[in-house]
Amino acid sequence: MREQWGSSAGFVIATIGAAVGLGNIWRFAYVTGENGGAAFLLIYLGFVLVIGLPLMIAELTLGRRAGSDAIAAFEKGHESSVWRYAGWLGVIAAGLILSYYAVIAGWALRYVFGAATGGLWRSSGTGFGAYFEAFISHAFEPILWQAAMLAAAGLVVSAGIKGGIERINRWLMPALAMIVVLLAAFSVTLPGGTRGVAFILAPDWNAFSRPAVYLNALGQAFFSLGVGMAVFITYGSYLDRRTSIPRAAVAVAAGDTLFAILAGLAIFPAVFAFGGDPAAGPRLAFITLPQVFTQMPGGSVIGLVFFLLLAAAALTSMISLLEVPVSVVVHRTRRSRSRAVTIVTLAVFLAGLPSALSYGVLERWKIGGLPLLDLVDQATSNILLPLCGLACAVFVGWRLATATALADADLGSTRVGWVWWWLLRVVVPATIVLILLRSLAWL
Ligand code: PFF
Repeated sequence: MREQWGSSAGFVIATIGAAVGLGNIWRFAYVTGENGGAAFLLIYLGFVLVIGLPLMIAELTLGRRAGSDAIAAFEKGHESSVWRYAGWLGVIAAGLILSYYAVIAGWALRYVFGAATGGLWRSSGTGFGAYFEAFISHAFEPILWQAAMLAAAGLVVSAGIKGGIERINRWLMPALAMIVVLLAAFSVTLPGGTRGVAFILAPDWNAFSRPAVYLNALGQAFFSLGVGMAVFITYGSYLDRRTSIPRAAVAVAAGDTLFAILAGLAIFPAVFAFGGDPAAGPRLAFITLPQVFTQMPGGSVIGLVFFLLLAAAALTSMISLLEVPVSVVVHRTRRSRSRAVTIVTLAVFLAGLPSALSYGVLERWKIGGLPLLDLVDQATSNILLPLCGLACAVFVGWRLATATALADADLGSTRVGWVWWWLLRVVVPATIVLILLRSLAWL
């Protein structure tokens, strides 16, 4: 008998843990900053509702009905078909994303220690930019932190679904929710913070006419929810029939979105209050925010708490990404879970080395002008991930018998059920194809 989640609530919390990660804090903050704030947020919310949520329901449904790994999920009912490659695609995407995600998670962990020991704050004289550059260009240091984060994720996944993944999320997620609420409450009450609140809550209507804003919003919705990487297929495969998939998916999408908004409310008012640049890009969390923290009363404690939040949120997402290939290895090679974890973690670590070194030793190795880490990020987020999402939508919308799809998704022949089915059949694939064409044109 396949292992199962301990309870519905435990499953929902673990799945929120998968969705909430670097994407909600580090990536959401800088992408929102670069794309004009509140207008971007509105478009993003639209995509979460129309594309992300239906896809999440489809992935969970595929996973639960097969009760096996992500590849088998595409084989069930179509054993000899080419659809299994869609499953492989998801597994590879998860492994590749994890390979560089672990590197950035390692940066966050490095900053936890920097903030705790005071090394980070002492560098304010020479500038946080120099501190960040010195770290990411170091010959081997980024590798150590990347390895530490991977080892932590590996330990949790070795302990299994209920005793490992579910348990750690039950502890970490409520703590993270509390931290982000406290940080947001503190930040919005800073003198001068209201401009930051307006930045993410009051839309600038001009931004709606910029096509790039829509593209970035869709990419962010995919990444932040975590759809298109077989994670929900895999998590769904440990789910019993008593849990309602649509309800769980709504809770996860709402939790993920709320978390991103709260993180935005924690970050932007502080950035505005202390004269930071909201459009600072990926360095916002690592350079701009430390500058902001040093100017705040109690900033060194708040900074420490912030980077803890970032590292812990990253960890719960890494766990979900790791579980995808691990479940494939366990299922296909009949190895023990801990053996499978060792093999996969090692492979992912090796695959991530070029990313870890891409701003240091391998700085000159650029492809299409991009450092290796950025290249893997863009190739997976912009191409593999939408492809896998597309496959999932088409498989559930066109290949499964309609009644089966609706029943397995716990929707049945209801109005909501039909809306979901048509979104999957038409709106989701059409939008993804559009985005894919756009990102290919970028290459
Ligand atoms: N959703 C996570 C985040 O926002 O950081 C990242 C992620 C997790 C992406 C799991 C994909 C995934 F399958």
